[in-house]
Amino acid sequence: MCKNKTYYITTPIYYPSANLHIGNTYTTVAADALARFKRLTGYDVMFLTGTDEHGQKIQRIAEEKGVTPIEYVDGIVAGIKDLWDIMHISYDKFIRTTENYHMKAVQDIFKKLYDQGDIYKDSYEGWYCTPCESFWTETQLVDGKCPDCGRPVEKAKEEAYFFKMSKYADRLIKHIEDNPHFIQPESRKNEMVNNFLKPGLQDLCVSRTSFNWGIPVTFDTDHVVYVWIDALSNYITALGYGGEDKSLYEKYWPADVHLIGKDILRFHTIYWPIMLMALGEPLPKQVFGHGWLLVDGGKMSKSKGNVVDPVVLVKEFGVDAVRYYLLREIPFGADGLFNNEIFIKKINSDLCNDLGNLLSRTVAMVEKYFGGIIPAPLAKEDIDDELIKLALETPKKVEEAIDHLKIPEALEEIWTLIGRANKYIDETTPWILAKDEEKKDRLGTVLYNLAESLRFISVLILPFLPDTSKKISVQINTEVDTWNSLSAFDGTAAGTKVVKGENLFPRIDVDAKLKELEALKEASIKANKQIEIKPIKEEITIEDFEKIDLRVVKVLEVEAIKGAKKLLKLKVDLGGEQRQVVSGIAKYYKPEELVGKNVVLVANLKPVKLRGELSQGMILAAATDDDSELFVVNPGELPTGSEVR
Ligand code: ME8
Ligand code: MG
Repeated sequence: MCKNKTYYITTPIYYPSANLHIGNTYTTVAADALARFKRLTGYDVMFLTGTDEHGQKIQRIAEEKGVTPIEYVDGIVAGIKDLWDIMHISYDKFIRTTENYHMKAVQDIFKKLYDQGDIYKDSYEGWYCTPCESFWTETQLVDGKCPDCGRPVEKAKEEAYFFKMSKYADRLIKHIEDNPHFIQPESRKNEMVNNFLKPGLQDLCVSRTSFNWGIPVTFDTDHVVYVWIDALSNYITALGYGGEDKSLYEKYWPADVHLIGKDILRFHTIYWPIMLMALGEPLPKQVFGHGWLLVDGGKMSKSKGNVVDPVVLVKEFGVDAVRYYLLREIPFGADGLFNNEIFIKKINSDLCNDLGNLLSRTVAMVEKYFGGIIPAPLAKEDIDDELIKLALETPKKVEEAIDHLKIPEALEEIWTLIGRANKYIDETTPWILAKDEEKKDRLGTVLYNLAESLRFISVLILPFLPDTSKKISVQINTEVDTWNSLSAFDGTAAGTKVVKGENLFPRIDVDAKLKELEALKEASIKANKQIEIKPIKEEITIEDFEKIDLRVVKVLEVEAIKGAKKLLKLKVDLGGEQRQVVSGIAKYYKPEELVGKNVVLVANLKPVKLRGELSQGMILAAATDDDSELFVVNPGELPTGSEVR
């Protein structure tokens, strides 16, 4: 059996708990580019993605929506598959953890680990918050209460199964030390070893009894298997591990790379390898933890309204523009920024100017000077060598970069060639050659070299921008598109008729487009907000209303309150006096965002103590019913103390 030419790459399996955003899309686009590159360079590729469908969170969302969990996830999973089609993700297999073959294999894995003594039953004692369905240890409590909601907790004992992680820790440390490429990038490896492995691993609780949307433990059906044991197993169950037909498992395991975001590195480089060791199976060759995709203002979140929707971007700019930005602009392994303005400028410079113009100029000149027929290269000159040499060297450079998972660097090499070809036009000045009938052969050679360079470029970009690659090969009318065809600069057949097409990437008016995007975002925020209009409350008289004393106050100081995640403590100025107010707005505002702002205070509300802090009044805010969004009411720049009537 020939094992060396296979390539098994995985993405994480996604939680079907919300629409996927550009950050989730990033992992999958990167994996897709790698998978396509390996296929292009002759590997037999297995590219796996899927969905991670169990757990309490999914169960809760389904309950809120009044549907069964499977009904709920079926809908979301269909949407995720649509998104991958839109992004041109060429996965070979899509696994859903609710599929029978996976569930059965996980049950067998759990049983095997139990039978051999790696999993044991015990119980843990702690403090239980019933409304939150959460267990807390003594030290996590705040003033003896639930640290999340502040309500009283009860002493409780829960039965659970535990995995003897510590038993394998030394073997894992040795494996990581012996295999320097196992965890990448390097900095993340040190974090795992020094922060988690060296201080000593605790046994991991691997079953739950507090909810039932999970894979039941076969020999103790009150328990469901902990979601991460369920989820991580997907990488082998998808290949048939634990099933009847093990041929895919034998062919592709161990994985060449698990591509994941840095937030789930611990699960993939500690728990997963230990599970595999306990099962007696080989470990994946590499786990690569890429960085975080940030937007202006930090992480994307629904409440900030800054979630970037990949579907909207694709509709506006085309799938390859989005793929290009993600692959070229985000340093692979580090955090990167998604910003509309940088995105649009990048499309204009790299895709429209550099690549699009190279194609349109070349095709236009072949049409104009040779009636659309690519001429034969009959009159070479020294100046051609530099371009040809670079074209012939580029595939190797791109391959080397990809072998080290340096995706932006690979694209940079390709764009160096594109730049060189554009420079070649300026150097050879075909429009001047065209004026002299004696230079016809020379002009033909220049255009041949440009067409052949474009053929190289269309093959080179195939893994990254598959659509654009195809459009280029249609216009220069070539079917010579294998990687091996890049070993010689002669794949274009003289006599081929070019097929002029549309501009690959029309130039975008940056300012106009930015405004348009802003408007789209507003509209989408509004459209996504299905607010329930509550019935209007009982009528009151103007006298009733006038009992409420509303004042413009200036925020002087703001502090978080220890142990009360939702609350902020504000010191406000009323003109004549200063007051302390406690407000449940910590989820929506950072303290520094409020200092210096004017807000509206209910000034004659009876003072109360909240979490031991005196609150003299209440800050007015507008909020959605589900509290997903909240804005403190802004009274403008009126003098402090002014009445709000
Ligand atoms: O973690 N930038 O699923 P998930 C970059 N089901 N990557 C991001 C990101 C961002 N802003 N936000 C999320 C899970 N991701 C588990 C995985 S695998 C056996 C189980 C990445 O849907 C995140 O890092 O929460 C992760 O790699 C992926 O999206 C899926 O996240
Ligand atoms: Mg997550």
